[in-house]
Amino acid sequence: MAAKLVTPPYFAWLVLTCLLVVSVSAIPSKKIISLKLIKQVNSKGPYVGLLTVFPPEERAFLGTGDFKPNPEHPFVDLSGRRYRVGTIYGKKVIYVRCGIGMVNAAAVTQQMLDLFDVAGIVHFGSSGNINNSMSIGDVSIPKQFANTGLWNWLNAKGAVDPDDVAQLEVGKYNVPKGDGVNLLGKLSYSPEQLFSVSREPNDATTLFWAGVSQHWLKLASSLEGMELEKCVNSSLCLPQKPKLVVGLKGSTADIFVDNAAYRDFLYKAFGVSSADMESSAVTCLSNGIPVIAIRGMSDLAGGQSGENAMDTYGSLAALNTAKANAMVPGSSDFCAVSAEIMQVSCGIFEQMVKLKSLNIIKEVNRKGPYVGLITVYPPEENAFFASKAFKPDGKHPFVDLSGRRFRVGKVQGKKVIYVRCGVGMVNAAAATQQMLDMFDITGIVHFGIAGNVDNSMSIGDVTIPKQFAHTGIWDWLNPNGTLPANDIAELDFGSYNVPKGDGMNLLGKIGYSYEQFFSKSGKPNTAIPLFWAQISERWLQLAAGLEGMELERCVNSSACLSQKPKLVVGLRGSTANIFVDNAAYRDFLYQTYAVSSVDMESFAVVMTSLSNGYPVIVIRGLSDLAGGQTGQNAIQTFGPLAARNAAQAVVKFIGYLS
Ligand SMILES: *[C@@H]1O[C@H](CO)[C@@H](O)[C@H](O)[C@H]1NC(C)=O
Ligand SMILES: *[C@@H]1O[C@H](CO)[C@@H](O)[C@H](O)[C@H]1NC(C)=O
Ligand SMILES: *[C@@H]1O[C@H](CO)[C@@H](O)[C@H](O)[C@H]1NC(C)=O
Ligand SMILES: *[C@@H]1O[C@H](CO)[C@@H](O)[C@H](O)[C@H]1NC(C)=O
Repeated sequence: MAAKLVTPPYFAWLVLTCLLVVSVSAIPSKKIISLKLIKQVNSKGPYVGLLTVFPPEERAFLGTGDFKPNPEHPFVDLSGRRYRVGTIYGKKVIYVRCGIGMVNAAAVTQQMLDLFDVAGIVHFGSSGNINNSMSIGDVSIPKQFANTGLWNWLNAKGAVDPDDVAQLEVGKYNVPKGDGVNLLGKLSYSPEQLFSVSREPNDATTLFWAGVSQHWLKLASSLEGMELEKCVNSSLCLPQKPKLVVGLKGSTADIFVDNAAYRDFLYKAFGVSSADMESSAVTCLSNGIPVIAIRGMSDLAGGQSGENAMDTYGSLAALNTAKANAMVPGSSDFCAVSAEIMQVSCGIFEQMVKLKSLNIIKEVNRKGPYVGLITVYPPEENAFFASKAFKPDGKHPFVDLSGRRFRVGKVQGKKVIYVRCGVGMVNAAAATQQMLDMFDITGIVHFGIAGNVDNSMSIGDVTIPKQFAHTGIWDWLNPNGTLPANDIAELDFGSYNVPKGDGMNLLGKIGYSYEQFFSKSGKPNTAIPLFWAQISERWLQLAAGLEGMELERCVNSSACLSQKPKLVVGLRGSTANIFVDNAAYRDFLYQTYAVSSVDMESFAVVMTSLSNGYPVIVIRGLSDLAGGQTGQNAIQTFGPLAARNAAQAVVKFIGYLS
């Protein structure tokens, strides 16, 4: 096969050439400098990608002295993060710290794989221990991870989706137990939608357990028994010698778990031994690249009596994890892994697919720049195409990347690239980052449907919010836990008990935390806390012209809304990996944050666009009452109408763009 002759450096060279040559006029000079650097860095690849999360892990890693920076090109700064180039144990690596949470983890992984010549990813950091046979200071190298934060939040009697894998009934944790009713109803755990290079484009499959690469796990098992650190310093040591265990299960969510009852639930429902906030979002699986995650255990995730041990033992856990990196493979080991998975020799499979795509991208970009359009799921896509506003490009109607189809064409005479990202924050962040890195884009218009949590709005209306909060990044605390000083709001499960009694519930309380926002225009690697992500002012002003536009009232001749729908610019929206279908939680969101809509992607698209310095706007049609209804959720009936109204607004908005 001729393609076998294609070596990774050539491949990498091609990526950069295309980006460089193609859209120089549209790319700011800072980006051009980075791209030239990347080209030089890639010419010496392939590399193993190393990914940590937060400063204590980075300090432990850099503190070992094992990482030797490349004297010529020690780093490249991209989208507010510093990618460090060097070697460890003589093996070529590119190291980056992504920041806390799934949006950061997904965006960075996608960027690393798209721009650098990376053969595989080693992700490492600390985690909470939720298995009583494990101890603080131990290191876990799990065989698989689940995103245990992707939920349908249902009313107590709400119907469970057949795809869902487990339920948590809040009322079961009421104290005193009473009749076990709690207005917060139940959480129903959903699988992720996985797009993948090894499947048909746009044909997502449901995935609850994401497996790490088998070959790699076998290599890792040789680490069992290795010597780990027992002491933080001369006066503070663990009671026992820490151990390294390969092959357990891990869980990931945008939740810092510090609650005994929830810890117990996770262990019993999923058999997971650790809880972290990034691992399952490291999206290599979509990209067909091998991955492994190494997590040191820093605390008991709420199982402790007294203070969480994270502050005391976090540094030790990070150090032990960094030590386990001794086994970081060379990229040739990763090639062996690729071969095992793909049944082809080193990386060739991805490269064949990618090379073909890259040639097309090069030609597509030559005709740019484009406005990026992103929807989430098929009913939204169907509504958009049904409007007939999208005219595919005659020569290159699409490019397939990482399991998604990026369609090239025009709307209202304006050049656009359209993609459907899939449900949830991980998909939204990864697809947005990829679109911005691979194509010549001027800004992002994100659209679809949302739940309505504002009683002055109605189903069928269209909202174009001025700002979005990520209302799913939490500290989950014990009932008597102390809220971290910078958390901005609190939800106490006990205050929803029925009968109220003394208002105790073992699920304790949720502290609402911030995202960490990295920005291209900020200092590299210096994240700022972000709760409200602002929509670009200029685009919002343009959008104001849409108010008063004619929207549809009827699904068909026999199903119509009772009133004429309206379009409102300037409200607030909230996003989390949660499909809200619970009246009490809907009410909490409205009361606490004055948000009018809930969805599962917007914040991730907005934050990722802003990190990269692009304007962004979100247009969502309201499809249901997010649990506030009596009877069935209206999404089945009115979802298509809401999607149609949003698509019409988008088409009109694109017409306004210069
Ligand atoms: C908990 O950890 C122990 C010790 O490593 C292990 O043998 C056991 O299988 C783990 N439990 C689960 C449910 O994975
Ligand atoms: C050892 O570490 C603990 C926890 O960080 C700290 O409280 C203590 O002061 C340290 N002791 C010494 C001798 O450095
Ligand atoms: C919380 O505090 C109260 C009063 O101090 C105590 O009675 C109760 O046992 C504590 N609950 C938990 C779960 O620690
Ligand atoms: C109109 O749409 C509703 C909701 O989807 C559906 O139940 C009904 O069968 C449709 N009626 C006609 C006449 O198509």
